[in-house]
Parts: sequence; structure tokens; C-alpha cells
Amino acid sequence: YSLKGRNTFGFQVAARYFVEVTSVEQLQKALAFARENKLNIVPLGGGSNLVLTGDIEALVIAVSLRERSVLERSDDAVIIRAGAGENWHELVRWTLAEQAYGLENLSLIPGHVGAAPIQNIGAYGVELKDFFESLEAVDIHSGELRRFSLEECQFGYRDSVFKHALRDRFIITSVNFRLLPGLQPKLGYGQLQQEIAQRCGRRSPTGMEISEAVADVRMQKLPDPNVLGNAGSFFKNPVVNADVVERLRAEFPDLVAFPFDEQWKLAAGWLIDKAGLRGYREGRVGTYQHQALVLVNHGDAEPGELLHLADVIQQKVKAMFGVALEMEPRVY
Ligand code: EPU
Repeated sequence: YSLKGRNTFGFQVAARYFVEVTSVEQLQKALAFARENKLNIVPLGGGSNLVLTGDIEALVIAVSLRERSVLERSDDAVIIRAGAGENWHELVRWTLAEQAYGLENLSLIPGHVGAAPIQNIGAYGVELKDFFESLEAVDIHSGELRRFSLEECQFGYRDSVFKHALRDRFIITSVNFRLLPGLQPKLGYGQLQQEIAQRCGRRSPTGMEISEAVADVRMQKLPDPNVLGNAGSFFKNPVVNADVVERLRAEFPDLVAFPFDEQWKLAAGWLIDKAGLRGYREGRVGTYQHQALVLVNHGDAEPGELLHLADVIQQKVKAMFGVALEMEPRVY
């Protein structure tokens, strides 16, 4: 079964077994089939945070559970529930139409709802965890459906328990969000503020206007996966101690770094750019000309070419700044 249309790098790889499930029961049946036949499982959402390095000798399960509902509405919260197979951006637009606010800064992030908690998606000053209520997931081994609270998910920067202790243990089937009945704009990101000012002047923006402004900012910097294969930011922004920032600032006064908890977050895109690799091209792969942190498939590239480019970037950044870049997408 070809996965070319199901991974946003557009890599030509195939799955030995493939099934698309639209309910928890179907998912449980697929998992039972895999157990009986001793097959490994690879869950698939929107395929936008994946590097598929070759044909997959496993059962690929496309998780296509659809559901959008308002569970509860009070003076201080709107609880909504979304199936794992819902398109993320469509969900965001739907919440705004339902007058449930909070997710607007996360507009136009590619992918499906079920994958969003795994890496705690974030953009423009908001992370999924800020509006997360709970999720349901099926245990890959036992087939049991289980609920996870905010605390149990152990969210961090592009991180959750599903990347560590519970990696490959659960398939997320639905997510509940605790949203706001009134808009509380978060416009701290400079370019977003400018975009809003252009649209609204001094008037307060609506949720939809923020969503549209976010989409515009994203379209200026990030390639559309339908046009140019990519998986968003390819590396995490490295989190380092103050002494590293001090050392780097001495050599590179224009270093981009943000305070993060007790530490600092470096802009990986800036590091790659400064290393002379923005818009760099190696055969059929390269870095995006408007955002060096995004690796792109210029057409018909092999996964190996991309991994080689990632390696070149990691080595060059390490040599120049002494900082290690960690890959963000999941590699299979
Ligand atoms: N920069 C450069 N050159 C570049 C790229 C960036 O100098 O080629 C500088 C920018 O000028 C800016 C800084 O680096 O001062 C940060 O860049 P940007 O605002 O584009 O954000 P980012 O840190 O590169 C992160 C997320 C994005 C998210 C944006 C906006 C990660 C790994 N990435 O990118 O998320 O959209 O912030 O909040 O944290 C994703 O995860 O796939 C993703 C796109």
C-alpha cells in the first residue's frame, strides 16, 4: 500500500499492511489482528511530522476517527471533544465558529488532532497544553481504552509522555479541550502583532481575524506541504544554560535566544541560517529559503538524501556553535 500521499515529505514508500479505522472498535480489531499475526504497528495521522525512511514491514493504521462536539459550556470554559482523525486547522476554525477561544494562534498547523498532544504542538506563544483537558487512547497491547489527564501527559516543549515512557504504547483516539467563552488575544509574537495592526488598526481583533493573521504569517515563512514536501520545523530549538548563551553572545552578538524556564531557548533556524545554510540545496533536498529550520523535498527525493542533509546541518551547527540539534519529526 503506497504511503506517498500520506506523508507530507511525499516520500515514495509502501506499507506491507494498511488499514484505515474510523471507530475505537475498528481500531481494537486492527490491534487484535496485529497481535495474532505478530505484526508491529505504525499509527498514522496527517503524516506531517514523519520521516518514512523506507518500506514499512508493519501494519500501518490510519487513525480516522471523526468527531467534533461541544460537551459543556459555562461562564468560564467551553469543553470540546475532537476525534483523533479531525484535521487540526479545520478543528481550530470550527471552535471559533462555536465561540470557543484559545486555539486561534495554532491555526494552519498541518496534521490531525490525534498527533497534536504527542509533541504538544505550539506556535506564536501558545501550546496545546494551555488548552488541554484530557485525551483518550487505546493501549496497543491490551486494546483497552484509557483516559489521560493533563498531568499524566507530562507535556513539555515539543514533548509529552508519549515520546518517552509511553512511546509506542498508546494510540490516541480523541482529545478534549478546555477553551474560553471569550477571546483573550495573545499577540506577543512581533510579526503577528504587525499583521493584526494592519488588519484591524487599533480595534480589537476577532478570533477569526487572529486566525487569519496567523495563517498569513505562517504562509510567509513556511512552505505549503502540498507544494513543497516538508514536515515543519525539522529540529527542536535547543534549550541551553545561561553560560552557553553568554559564550555564544560574545562571538555572535546578534544571537537569537529567548528565556525559557530557568534556561534559554536558541532559535535553531537562526543557527542554521548563520551557518550559511538557509536556502542551501543538496541534490533534491534542501532548507527552505524563508525558514532554514524547515527541510524540504524539492521533488522525488529519497529519504536517505534528507537524512544525509540533516546530518550535514547537525555537524555544521555543532562545529560552529558547539550546540547539538535534535530532530523533531518521528523517523520510521
Ligand atoms: N531565524 C533566522 N533565520 C531562519 C529562521 C529563523 O534568523 O532561517 C530567526 C528568526 O528571525 C527569529 C527566530 O529565528 O528571530 C525564530 O524563528 P521563528 O519565529 O520562525 O520561529 P522558530 O523558533 O524557528 C518555532 C516553532 C514553529 C512555530 C514558530 C512560531 C519549533 C521547533 N518551531 O519556530 O513550529 O511555528 O516557532 O511560534 O519550536 C513546527 O514545530 O513544525 C513549527 C513550525
